[in-house]
Amino acid sequence: MESVNAAIIYYSATGTVHALASAVAEGAEKAGAQVRLRKVAETAPPEAISARPEWAQHVQDTADVAEASLDDLAWADLVLFGTPTRFGNVSAQLKAFIDTTGPLWFAGGLADKVYSAFTASNTAHGGQESTLLALGNVFYHWGGIIVPPGYTDPVQFRSGNPYGTSHVAGEGPPGDVALEAARHQGRRAVETAAQLKVGRAA
Ligand SMILES: Cc1cc2nc3c(=O)[nH]c(=O)nc-3n(C[C@H](O)[C@H](O)[C@H](O)COP(=O)(O)O)c2cc1C
Repeated sequence: MESVNAAIIYYSATGTVHALASAVAEGAEKAGAQVRLRKVAETAPPEAISARPEWAQHVQDTADVAEASLDDLAWADLVLFGTPTRFGNVSAQLKAFIDTTGPLWFAGGLADKVYSAFTASNTAHGGQESTLLALGNVFYHWGGIIVPPGYTDPVQFRSGNPYGTSHVAGEGPPGDVALEAARHQGRRAVETAAQLKVGRAA
């Protein structure tokens, strides 16, 4: 397998998307990729964070996770983005990072990479698909190669979201099925990026 660079870039306030991101990273690593797991910078005011103990706790728990930079995007052959649903859309924190990519995009540094996305919401019909499709809009603008999980592994028939791994946080932390779906998504993105690399080199 051709070695590829995988960036997993996510935002998580209370840990759900972080757990999915870690599983995606595990799947990507097992598939042979060099992996960078990166959180985006927090943009919420400290008083909003301290008003929710589980948010403040997660900030503390992930203090050692490096923050995403444009270099991570430039370095990567594939990028998997994770975000909690915010009113059916991408979180402001992840969007703020995406909105710093203009110069890299303009220089052609975001085109032709593999992209995929994962999410969490509080309720089953709370906007997981609209959030993933909203990230897809960005990938189109970047000239990305979107690699969704579809139903390409038996776990997808159990996790049930062909657009990207997703979890209903209101039912508790991600369990075996969601984490296996996340690993599968990471693996599949790596395998596709590796095949593209071989094909381009030929
Ligand atoms: C401002 C805000 C808006 C939200 N909007 C939605 C929503 O539209 N649908 C939903 O099911 N959950 C919504 N949620 C719940 C989050 O999606 C949920 O807490 C998150 O997926 C948990 O992920 P995390 O633990 O990684 O932060 C919202 C939460 C906040 C704070």
